[in-house]
Amino acid sequence: MKVLSVVGARPQFVKLAPIAAATRQLDVDHIVVHTGQHYDESMSQSFFDTLAIPDPDVNLGVGSGSHGTQTGRILGELEPVLQHHQPDWVLVYGDTNSTLAAAICAVKIHLPVAHLEAGLRSFNRQMPEEHNRVLTDHCSDLLLAPTRAAAAQLSREGLAGRTVVVGDVMADICLAVRDEVSARPTAVPLPIPSGSPYFLATVHRAENTDDPERLGAILDALRKLPIDTVLLAHPRLVARAQSFGLSLAGGALHPAPPLTYPHLVKALAQSRGVVTDSGGLQKEAYLLGKICTTLRTETEWAETLEGSWNVLAPEPSDVRRLATRPEPDAAPLPVYGNGDAALRTIQQLVTHA
Ligand code: UD1
Repeated sequence: MKVLSVVGARPQFVKLAPIAAATRQLDVDHIVVHTGQHYDESMSQSFFDTLAIPDPDVNLGVGSGSHGTQTGRILGELEPVLQHHQPDWVLVYGDTNSTLAAAICAVKIHLPVAHLEAGLRSFNRQMPEEHNRVLTDHCSDLLLAPTRAAAAQLSREGLAGRTVVVGDVMADICLAVRDEVSARPTAVPLPIPSGSPYFLATVHRAENTDDPERLGAILDALRKLPIDTVLLAHPRLVARAQSFGLSLAGGALHPAPPLTYPHLVKALAQSRGVVTDSGGLQKEAYLLGKICTTLRTETEWAETLEGSWNVLAPEPSDVRRLATRPEPDAAPLPVYGNGDAALRTIQQLVTHA
């Protein structure tokens, strides 16, 4: 059996790590295609290095571009690669332009597509990720849902017959890396005095970075937090802030380059909490029992809102009040699986091949 994974953006490299390990464990041929959507060392290669993922078999090198240009380039470059390898499954991950392009490319040449992280919805049709998710789910042959809620959504859309719940592969890797980093001393490079309390923050979504007024208000709110706040700056944020003449520093705010995954997990585990618009970080905070304040009007990861481990903060002026709320009494629930989602994913691909 041959599985061909298509990945392109940072969170997909994280999800690829447990999938690659599961293919080795179950003796399944695994070809990895990197679209090149993310290409900076800190956004791409550092994940392959620190998570022991084999280098991609193919890198399409598409780079950045408008949605149409990026998606179209991936479609065109990927087609001969899929035709050459003729996999039993094309496995696509999450909600990026790389995911949608690969799914369309595969169905057009009649190769079966499986969508990992199927069934998530923000119901916000302004988000590029929402278009990518919905379109990918509806053209895929096998929908690998991370949670029961995601499967129920797919059922409401008439897709129950193609859906299986496998758990969340991000939980597999997050919990494994947490155990690894807690077992050995790891110094995380943060721009604040060692041992002092801090919040972690990230901002990269188009709806938060691309409007100068909104981005300015978010940065102001982070500056006013009562403890140091380390802003792990995605290249998109750096580019937009620079073009709008906005500083990423000042007050409580300290910018830093993106971290490797083990360093991120350690930094999160040692933080007082997170302020973010990242889907992955909302979930990682929940898994590690850290308070998360989400700079969005809605979240696809609705389970994290239970018990207020995560709260939505669409208004930047509410960030200080929400980020400093007390920790909930009840522990987070194990809604994202038991750490065996990647194995279950590959087993499902074998069963349905
Ligand atoms: C993409 C995904 C988003 C995901 C995120 C994870 C889409 C539509 N969005 O957003 O869902 O949460 O990845 O990080 O697919 N850039 C660099 N170097 C890089 C990558 C990006 O400088 O290695 C800069 C470029 O200016 C680029 C911009 O960041 O134009 C945006 O990158 P892009 O890949 O288009 O989308 P992300 O914002 O990263």
